[in-house]
Amino acid sequence: MGQGVLTSGFTRAEGGLACEGVPLERVAREVGTPTYVYSSAMVRDRFVRLDEALVDVPHRIHYTLKANSNAGLLRLLKELGAGVDVVSGGELFRALRLGFTGDDIVFGGVGKTDRELREAVQAGVKLVNAESEAEVRALGRIASEEGTTARVGLRVNPEVTPYVDGVERLTGLLDAIRAEGIDTLRYLDIGGGLGVSYSDEVSPDLGRFAKALVKRVVPTGLTLLTEPGRFIVGNAGVLLTRVLYRKHSGGRDFLITDAGMTELIRPSHYDAYHRIESVRPNGQSMTADVVGPICESGDFLALGREMDDAAAGDLLAVHDVGAYGYVMASNYNTRPRGAEVLVEGERYAVVTLRERD
Ligand SMILES: Cc1ncc(COP(=O)(O)O)c(C=O)c1O
Repeated sequence: MGQGVLTSGFTRAEGGLACEGVPLERVAREVGTPTYVYSSAMVRDRFVRLDEALVDVPHRIHYTLKANSNAGLLRLLKELGAGVDVVSGGELFRALRLGFTGDDIVFGGVGKTDRELREAVQAGVKLVNAESEAEVRALGRIASEEGTTARVGLRVNPEVTPYVDGVERLTGLLDAIRAEGIDTLRYLDIGGGLGVSYSDEVSPDLGRFAKALVKRVVPTGLTLLTEPGRFIVGNAGVLLTRVLYRKHSGGRDFLITDAGMTELIRPSHYDAYHRIESVRPNGQSMTADVVGPICESGDFLALGREMDDAAAGDLLAVHDVGAYGYVMASNYNTRPRGAEVLVEGERYAVVTLRERD
């Protein structure tokens, strides 16, 4: 990812894990658990790094709300100059309420309702990214009912996994469209999908990524749009959870925590790996199944994990939950969703209150 990258906003201070200058034990004491804790320094670092990498191509970063849409993070990203990518009327409402205006907003998503299309038209969004001819027709009809026109993006699937090949295909398509005499294209939107490291994966090389884009996009004369989510916030958050019980059963050690699939569904849903460490390790290690309080086979954060030894009452930090963590939380078992906290240096703010029982 280039030099000087801020690899973690989470460090040890006097033996305890801290987010920037705020000990996680303090967050647990004052806010309770389970709580998602985010480092604003990390979010800022990722945004600025991507923005700077793309300096040689006209561009705008439209942060995707689906990754994490709390108001604190969105305010921070707005201050940095981000636009947003929304995929529902709810996300559009949230973005507008926080002061993003039409040109800041790209509206994507696979199945937009008439009502959502109408709201997008009324908001004058920069682009409605359409997935089918039928959707383009619906958008046209709604825009004319509203007495206006809408700007539409045509979503194509280049059917390749590396970014560079995808952009190559898109610029090929662009040439074909222009050859048909259509010359109203203004943006090339490459979507999201920039990866992050959860364990030992190599983080994307932003320098190479940007160089490849500049080479291909600058000659088109179009403005590049990106819709990153995970890259901006993925590594910037931990889920702080307390061990309720430790038990030994069937030859296995279980840590039963006050967070589980309702707070982080990625381990059971996607088989995703999230590093777990003790906020104040005792120097021992154990192999544990870290499970939530729900009587459900999918209610786990890690299985057979070699990790810090822990006991009832200990605090654990589940790493890299900044993206697709809280936003995918549920109220299954009528469990109230946890709090979200945004840290800035020595201070923090509760940006989402814990739901009440
Ligand atoms: C069109 C589009 N934009 C943005 C994103 C956000 O992806 P990520 O959070 O991996 O950057 C996605 C992923 O679902 C997407 O399909």
